[in-house]
Amino acid sequence: MIKENIESLLNEQINFEIYSAYTYRAMGAYCDSIDLTGFAHWLKIQAKEEEAHVEKFYNFIIERGGRPFFTEIEAPQRDWESLQTVFEDGYKHELLVTAKINNIMTLAIEENDHATRSFLNWFIDEQVEEEATFDSKIKQIKMISGSGHGLFMMDKEMNTRVFVDPNQNK
Ligand code: FEO
Repeated sequence: MIKENIESLLNEQINFEIYSAYTYRAMGAYCDSIDLTGFAHWLKIQAKEEEAHVEKFYNFIIERGGRPFFTEIEAPQRDWESLQTVFEDGYKHELLVTAKINNIMTLAIEENDHATRSFLNWFIDEQVEEEATFDSKIKQIKMISGSGHGLFMMDKEMNTRVFVDPNQNK
């Protein structure tokens, strides 16, 4: 049976993952609005990944005898100054997710909750990848800055991202 304080933080995280999906959808809509459909596609897949994270937390809470609760979700930002700021904000957002996951892990360690620790290990690894991905995209966007051809090529490349459901091989 899950402890109430752990359950409460896991529930907060569910809602933050929904907000993450919402944020990436908004970023995708911005990219579509400036005709960068490949970037928009990439961000839609990012939103789907966040929805898969929601599913992971949801299933774990249920398995541990708890109950997922949903709260009001804040509206995401509507506009960005540039493509670069979209990805800079994405990077900052992922740093925040990492801090939140680390915070739950700290509590799980304090509470000797080995099941939650084991569950969170997947997210600790995932966050290393999430931060590195956004960091790399920012560097690539800076590299092509001012080059219409470079942007066109990168947009094409971003369009090839495929969604892999992490819940499928659970
Ligand atoms: Fe669910 Fe991008 O962290």
